[in-house]
Amino acid sequence: MSLESPYKPGPGLAPPQIAGRQAEFSEAFTLLRRIENYGAVGRAPLVYTGIRGMGKTVLLRQVAIEAQNRGFVVASVRANSETSVPQLVATTIGKALADLPGNRVAGSWQQWKDRLARLDVQVNLAGLVTVTKKADPGPDGHIEPHVLHELIASSAQIVREQNRPGLLITIDEIQSASRSGRITIGHVLQSLGEDPNAPVPATIISAGLPNSSDSLTVAGTFTERFTYRRLPGLSESEAAEALLAPANRLGVGFNDDAVGLILAEADGSPYLIQLLGDQTWVAAAPDRPQMLTVEHARRGLAVASEELTHGMFRTRWQRATPMEKQVLTAVVRRLNPAGIAQISDVASDLERTTKDISQQRSSLIDKGILQPAGWGEIGFSTPAFARYVRAQTSSPLTDGPSRKELLAQIVALRQQLDATSEAEVPSPVQDTAQIHDSSPVPDDGTEPE
Ligand SMILES: Nc1ncnc2c1ncn2[C@@H]1O[C@H](COP(=O)(O)OP(=O)(O)O)[C@@H](O)[C@H]1O
Ligand SMILES: [Mg+2]
Repeated sequence: MSLESPYKPGPGLAPPQIAGRQAEFSEAFTLLRRIENYGAVGRAPLVYTGIRGMGKTVLLRQVAIEAQNRGFVVASVRANSETSVPQLVATTIGKALADLPGNRVAGSWQQWKDRLARLDVQVNLAGLVTVTKKADPGPDGHIEPHVLHELIASSAQIVREQNRPGLLITIDEIQSASRSGRITIGHVLQSLGEDPNAPVPATIISAGLPNSSDSLTVAGTFTERFTYRRLPGLSESEAAEALLAPANRLGVGFNDDAVGLILAEADGSPYLIQLLGDQTWVAAAPDRPQMLTVEHARRGLAVASEELTHGMFRTRWQRATPMEKQVLTAVVRRLNPAGIAQISDVASDLERTTKDISQQRSSLIDKGILQPAGWGEIGFSTPAFARYVRAQTSSPLTDGPSRKELLAQIVALRQQLDATSEAEVPSPVQDTAQIHDSSPVPDDGTEPE
């Protein structure tokens, strides 16, 4: 029997070791402390942004756990375009408060229920929360910001009456909320921190793709006053910690060449470190404390790249329209070493104007494939996908042999893996029982298109 891999590759899966992110955590903890001490944040709302796999969901959940440990009531939601996010927030807050012991004697209980009802959410005597009328996420179902603000304010008041410090709401994937939802949330984010005469002991911490700042700017007038924190890749030493600490705890090490190869390939992406660590582990199938070698890492890498290629990346590529494929190909050719291309260069390569390709540009951004960089600039949300596009479109003469080699390796590995498939990683069980989460189950690694 081989030792089970400690790594957790997959959206939202808690890693065995959280590396780095101290600055991001401490920013959130400052907000929590301000609520504890002053009963309000009095600060611009905090939004974590970053490309997929950077650890936003993990970070939000860790902040939620910390808040919970400090006595905060926590309501966590994950936005999507089909649901009214304000109503989702209301329902989740409803559940969180309905579960509080002894809350129903609190003076503000009836007022709170009335405010909840304005969002078509009801709590019955048994504390069961129901949506009486599903709100339309579009303009027809638009929820006025003050309605949600007042619900949050009276919820936070109840929380205080229970001798708890306050209410924390987390919203993941904020960029995917409908426009109407973003307008409401954007205004509430603003108003919660604002009025010193009516302090609200609550805050909303959200996370989303890098275009979140654009999408919230569209939503409200004052969104430039948000605190956007872009999650960078892990530094070399943080990446090494993420890779090595979990293995070391099981008595397994990586030799220097293996570490070098994996870290170079992962390029600071927490997701790729989990994935490559996991596949290297599976390739080595250690059954006792031992050293994983560069040979294991190479085999792990081959499987991992096949997984990326044949899963997510292939789907993305196949679903792109012919014109989108042309744009992607041109962007790849024009990427500078920092991973950024000028849209005007891309357009001129395609013998078009920037306006001609603006539709493809925005649909690729909406799909989360490309992301705006600076003014007139664009990049890929995942550098590995840029490499995939390059491999799809580059000359077979220069590309052929190595890919052939890789395929042979993969076939051999597949056979080996089939033989050892009991070494599959089980999904982790997480201690989020206390946190009211609208989406406790992370998605399956494929992305919504
Ligand atoms: N700080 C970290 N250290 C190590 N691994 C991490 C860290 N943050 C996230 N991960 C891992 O990276 C992957 C992606 O994390 P996730 O939070 O889903 O990213 P995002 O929400 O930005 O797409 C998961 O496999 C997770 O275990
Ligand atoms: Mg996420």
